[in-house]
Amino acid sequence: MAYVSKRGATISGIEPRTGETHMAKLIAGNWKMNGSVESSRALAGGLAEKVKATPGLADVAICPPGPLMRDVLTAVAGSPIGVGGQDCHWNEAGAHTGDTSAALLADIGCAYAIVGHSERRADHGETSEQVKAKAEAVLSAGLVAIVCVGETEAERDTGQTETVVGRQIDGSLPDGGTPKTVVIAYEPVWAIGTGRTPSLEEIAAVHAFIRARAQESYDLGEGLRLLYGGSVKPGNAAEILAVEGVDGALVGGASLTVEDFWGIIESCP
Ligand code: 13P
Repeated sequence: MAYVSKRGATISGIEPRTGETHMAKLIAGNWKMNGSVESSRALAGGLAEKVKATPGLADVAICPPGPLMRDVLTAVAGSPIGVGGQDCHWNEAGAHTGDTSAALLADIGCAYAIVGHSERRADHGETSEQVKAKAEAVLSAGLVAIVCVGETEAERDTGQTETVVGRQIDGSLPDGGTPKTVVIAYEPVWAIGTGRTPSLEEIAAVHAFIRARAQESYDLGEGLRLLYGGSVKPGNAAEILAVEGVDGALVGGASLTVEDFWGIIESCP
């Protein structure tokens, strides 16, 4: 089924949200462990100005480090930019030193939480089982879960992309999710921060695989927002965002300047 975007492009395979005639792309910035109070205010405030001046190009989210959350929420107040956590604990509260609950993210005013990013899977040994529990906590808190999956270079080189990503999908998605509450981000590990990306055909193929698998395992394929992440920049965003089945982008490095992040938002078809 095809829908026409606000800019007149035909987007196929995407269900509009209720009452809408198209599904906007979601452009989410993952700041990772970057920024300061001063830079975060300037970046979030600058983006908010851009989005308010030219609304409707895409749904926009930014995921700052926890200590910068209040400053970012203040800076984007009154704009349609959503703010998200980069991770959360699966419990609502308790003795978990250093962790943040999804409930607290919701309380502070967040709309999203990323779970299962490959850097957390690698640096903190997070398993898909834990990612699923986190995603379920995100849903319980009333937030949208951005669940990340993706293969390493060695896994791709040995032809295991679908096996690995399929296993991550089966193991990491929350029970009871809907296309309104769950977003999947396909982030090939070897493309993160490297300047390398899969070919457009490869992105399309993995996205089609993920959508089919999410449908099969969770009845969650139709209308699901599926983001691509890994070295998305203003220079390649237009072609990546035009790939069938790509409903937005999860952006790391290029979300750290207003100019680059806005360039990606402006590239939405
Ligand atoms: P880069 O855009 O820096 O490659 O990072 C992608 C990513 O990991 C976003 O979560």
